Amino acid sequence: MRLLITGGAGFIGTNFAYHVLEHHPEDSVIVFDKLTYAGNLENLKQLEQNPRFAFVKGDICDVEIVNDIVKKVDAVVHFAAESHVDRSIDDPMSFVRTNVLGTQTLLDACRKNAYIRFHHVSTDEVFGSLGRHGMFRENTAYDPRSPYSASKASSDHLVRAAFHTYKLPITISNCSNNYGPYCFPEKFIPLAITNILEGKKIPIYGDGMNIRDWLYVEDHCYGIYAALVHGRMGETYCFGGRAERANIELAEIILFEMGARIDMLQFVKDRPGHDARYAIDFRKAEDELGWHPAVPFLHGIRRTIEWYKNNREWWTRIKNGSYTQYYESQYGLGGANEPV
Ligand code: NAD
Ligand code: TYD
Repeated sequence: MRLLITGGAGFIGTNFAYHVLEHHPEDSVIVFDKLTYAGNLENLKQLEQNPRFAFVKGDICDVEIVNDIVKKVDAVVHFAAESHVDRSIDDPMSFVRTNVLGTQTLLDACRKNAYIRFHHVSTDEVFGSLGRHGMFRENTAYDPRSPYSASKASSDHLVRAAFHTYKLPITISNCSNNYGPYCFPEKFIPLAITNILEGKKIPIYGDGMNIRDWLYVEDHCYGIYAALVHGRMGETYCFGGRAERANIELAEIILFEMGARIDMLQFVKDRPGHDARYAIDFRKAEDELGWHPAVPFLHGIRRTIEWYKNNREWWTRIKNGSYTQYYESQYGLGGANEPV
């Protein structure tokens, strides 16, 4: 299969490109990426000499280039997005542009070019915020609460509409928070690990009791490929890590694993509209795709810490560049939030 991986220079897309080329020798990959602040060509440097790999720089909102590139593939796996909730609070429009208009641009191109297979990578955040009990499933009503999750919800609806209206062969997956190698250090886990490696504190929003479910990125890649190959057309699959942790608990695990002191936590002002809890019931993916998360949470965290220890130059360059500028403009602290 010839695959187009949009957003393949970002966190999950990079991992997926490596996954496909390693595990599926019959497949080839074109990564299509705008290289925003979150896209990093350095991620893909080990693939440069691979004859089954190509990179094309471009914007998923650009109708002409998108039309041209989908002609070269059998399937699109769509990761490209603005992906960080905090940035969406500050600048919702860029999220609407890429996540909504960009997704529709890709759908139109797939429909007009031989009905190319389309898999849409989405998030559990479209379902809103859970209380203490319950889990999200494929039929949970949408209730997005941040500009990020609202833009992803819109894109999910457009993808589903393309199936119902035009019979475009689509599948969608909604997953919980990913962690692992190549995650941009503005997300909580890499921010925590790299801050500790720099001798800085871990910023904890609010009281730290918000709960996320954590999915190791490699497990997610297996799930996406399974949905692409074995998923039923028009269907949605939820992927979770069976690893719910309160943020404070997660930060303490990272501190313990890295041998850092407990006073390396810094409580900061809360995120506006901070969702309380996410959790995923992934029985449908288990039943239909034979998928379940295989990497236990502690193993995943240890592997992730090792990766950031071994790739210091990668994240140091990022933190010295756009990341720091962004946080300085927001908080004036160059990487940490304003203490309460
Ligand atoms: P990321 O921010 O690390 O990477 C996004 C990539 O998309 C970057 O390489 C960026 O350059 C590219 N991009 C952005 N706008 C573009 C545009 N207009 N045209 C072309 N490329 C563009 O994101 P990620 O964490 O790898 O997330 C990938 C996908 O998975 C997203 O759709 C996200 O909503 C979804 N998701 C992520 C998580 C998570 O925990 N990271 C969880 C659930 C779902
Ligand atoms: P994040 O990695 O931004 O993912 P998302 O908002 O998509 O779930 O945040 C994960 C959790 O960690 C979320 O509850 C917000 C919290 N958080 C902090 O407490 N401190 C931080 O510095 C960041 C970035 C996040």
